Amino acid sequence: MYILGIETSCDETAASVVTRDSDGLPQLLSNVVLSQIDEHSEFGGVVPEIAARAHLSALDQIINRALDEAHLGLSRIDGIGVTSGPGLVGGLMVGLMTAKALSASRNIPYLDVNHLEGHALTARLTDNVAYPYLLLLVSGGHSQIVRVDGLGTYTRLATTIDDAVGEAFDKTAKLLGLGFPGGPNVEKAAKKGDADRFRFPMPLRGQQTLNMSFSGLKTAIRTQAQKLVPLSGQDVADLCASMQKTVAEILANRCQRAMEQCEGIDILVVAGGVASNSEIRQRLDELCVQHDYSLIAPPLELCTDNAAMIAWAALERFEQGEKSEMNLAPRSRWPLDGSTESVIGSGRKGAKV
Ligand code: KG4
Ligand code: ZN
Repeated sequence: MYILGIETSCDETAASVVTRDSDGLPQLLSNVVLSQIDEHSEFGGVVPEIAARAHLSALDQIINRALDEAHLGLSRIDGIGVTSGPGLVGGLMVGLMTAKALSASRNIPYLDVNHLEGHALTARLTDNVAYPYLLLLVSGGHSQIVRVDGLGTYTRLATTIDDAVGEAFDKTAKLLGLGFPGGPNVEKAAKKGDADRFRFPMPLRGQQTLNMSFSGLKTAIRTQAQKLVPLSGQDVADLCASMQKTVAEILANRCQRAMEQCEGIDILVVAGGVASNSEIRQRLDELCVQHDYSLIAPPLELCTDNAAMIAWAALERFEQGEKSEMNLAPRSRWPLDGSTESVIGSGRKGAKV
C-alpha cells in the first residue's frame, strides 16, 4: 500500500509517501517540507491568513515533488492521508480540499488524520516501536504526556494548563530578541551559556497533578532580563541556558512520575518540534537509563511538522479498513484523548502571534 500524506495545519506545507516493505517494515519513500518561516518572521509568529495563502500556492508542487522523489505517479497511490485538525482552519481547508479533489478525480480513498496522532505514531514509522508506550508530545501548540496502548487508544496523563513548551521557547526568544521560531535560536544561544546562573521556578512541582505550566517561566525570565538591562551577549546566553535546563528538568520530572504510574511500559517516545532539543533529549535519556526505559527520539526532521507522520497514521488506519467521507470539515480543536476535559494545550494548535 503506497500512502500519500499531506500536512498544512500550521506553517509547514508538506507531502510525503510511505509504505511497508516486503517484510512489513515501515518505509519512508519521500518527505518534502516547505517551511514558511520567512513569510512569518517579521510578525514574530504565524499569521493565519498568510499561512493559508502560502499553502495554497505551494501545495501542488510539494505533492508533485513528494511523488517524484518516491518515483511514483499518482496512479500508484492507494490512499491519501491529510491533516484535518487541530490547527489553523484556513491551512487545514487547503490540505483537506486538495485531498478530496485528488480522491474524487482519481478515485483514491482518503482519510483525515489528527495531527497529534501523526506525532504520536512517528516512532512506529522511524523505529517500528510496538504498542504500548509512553509519549511525551512537546511542540508549539501542545505539551502532553500520553499513554499509547494502540491505534486510537490514547490516555492523556498530563497536559499544560497554560502555555505549550514550544510557546515558552518562542516567547523567550522574542523577549531576548532572538527571532522566530524561538526554539532552535534559544538552543543555539544556550550552548555558550551558564545553565546554573539563574534559578527559575518549576510550577506544580511536588503537587499530585502530572500537569505542566510554563507561563510563569516566561514571566520569571522577563523579570530577570529587566534587572540586567542592557543585556550583554553572555547574559542572553545564560538566560537561554538556564531556561532550557529548567524546561528539561520540568519535563523529566513529569515523565518520571508518569513512568511510576504506568506499569508494564518500558518505552518513552518523544515527539513534536521541542523534541529536537538536544539538552531535553539528553535529560530524558538519563531518566530512561535510571528507570530501565528505552528512549525513542525520531530524527530531527520528523520531530518538527511533516507529512510523513500523517501518511503513516493514515496507513495504519487504512490497514484497519477505515476511510473518510467527502462531507468532512476541518477542526481547529481535536484532542487526542477525547475523554479528557478541555485544557489549553490539550488539542489546540495554531497561531502564535
Ligand atoms: O511540532 P512543531 O514543528 O509544530 C507544532 O505542531 O507546533 O513544533 C514547533 C515548535 C516551535 O515552538 C519551536 O520553537 C519548537 O517547536 N522547537 C524547538 C526546537 N526546534 C523547534 N524548541 C526547543 N528546541 C529546539 N531545538
Ligand atoms: Zn506538530
